Amino acid sequence: MTDIKMICASVPLIPVLTIEDVDHAVPLAQALATAGLSVLEITLRTETALDAIEAVRAACPDAIVGAGTLRTPEDLSRCVAAGAQFGVSPGAPERLMDAVDASALPFLPGCASPTEVMRLADRGYRVLKFFPAEAAGGVRMLKSLAEPLSGIVFCPTGGVTIDNARDYLALPNVVTVGGSWVAPKALTKSEDWKGIENLARQAVAHLTQ
Ligand code: 3PG
Repeated sequence: MTDIKMICASVPLIPVLTIEDVDHAVPLAQALATAGLSVLEITLRTETALDAIEAVRAACPDAIVGAGTLRTPEDLSRCVAAGAQFGVSPGAPERLMDAVDASALPFLPGCASPTEVMRLADRGYRVLKFFPAEAAGGVRMLKSLAEPLSGIVFCPTGGVTIDNARDYLALPNVVTVGGSWVAPKALTKSEDWKGIENLARQAVAHLTQ
């Protein structure tokens, strides 16, 4: 898939993964993909992130692996070299967006205000990460943006949980949500891949019913 809207629309939830141990990457991705969460965001917040992206790309052909927390053009080049299939940023700084414009990588830039949404729309971006979703106004904020900023859809992330994800997904301008809750640190640390698979199955059932 080469289109960010298609990637986002193919799942109700994109797990946001921060991987400390590269050996966790493949079993974690497999557990999530088996449960139906085949689009994954691996954040560039750890030393192992790029190796994790590479490992998942090599071992999980059914998963679509994105790189998250991109802040600079250098981050963009590094994640493309590692094989990332899409990129995500918490914001949309000028230098990064110039590099994104010049690259072919499907990209989900971040925004948290009407002006930021409009700036990105001016650059041609119609699918945006709304971050940090809960802190920036949550469901009420996105509801308020739907009419004045029609034609833009969001992937709210940041404070999204099993308890509020359905409220976001019910909005016409929400295409999917992102969240780390589906792969909790404790289960990852104890390598409880079955536990994560079960959590992911429950999430898919709850979000698609
Ligand atoms: C992100 O990187 O998008 C967020 O940190 C994920 O937010 P969450 O941990 O609240 O789900």
